[in-house]
Amino acid sequence: MTEATLAKKPADAASGATLHDRILVGFKPIDDLHKEFEEIVGVLNDPAEADFGEHLLALHEHMLRHAAVEEGFMAQERYPHLGRHRRAHEHLLEAIARVRDRWDCGDVEAVRRFAAELMGWFAIHASSEDAELVAYLKGAPKAA
Ligand SMILES: [Fe+2]
Ligand SMILES: [Fe+2]
Repeated sequence: MTEATLAKKPADAASGATLHDRILVGFKPIDDLHKEFEEIVGVLNDPAEADFGEHLLALHEHMLRHAAVEEGFMAQERYPHLGRHRRAHEHLLEAIARVRDRWDCGDVEAVRRFAAELMGWFAIHASSEDAELVAYLKGAPKAA
């Protein structure tokens, strides 16, 4: 990971916000996971650093932990949209498993396409599902 990789923050034409801005949700435990996700995706998209086998595995391991942490908050605070949010995580985990299979089959182009599209997908998830979860956590009534 280089500073140059971290500096690549494509602008969102609609709002002026960068992808980096859109993945931060204002809750440190989740923002730390989001920065970690961004770093791994940055490496996957850096031709000088990407080792697809190693970094897809790192992405998969990260995402299992990332999903478990968020789903832990949801269960603990009885979040009403746990099922929907968990399905979005499962969808991503299945996509990661599929692209690892493509890598094992030698389909480098499939991995490159996946890596190139990943931050865009993630920014949508972070600014919708994760932001909604954080808003709930910040206002969540505590169990009596
Ligand atoms: Fe997240
Ligand atoms: Fe999430």
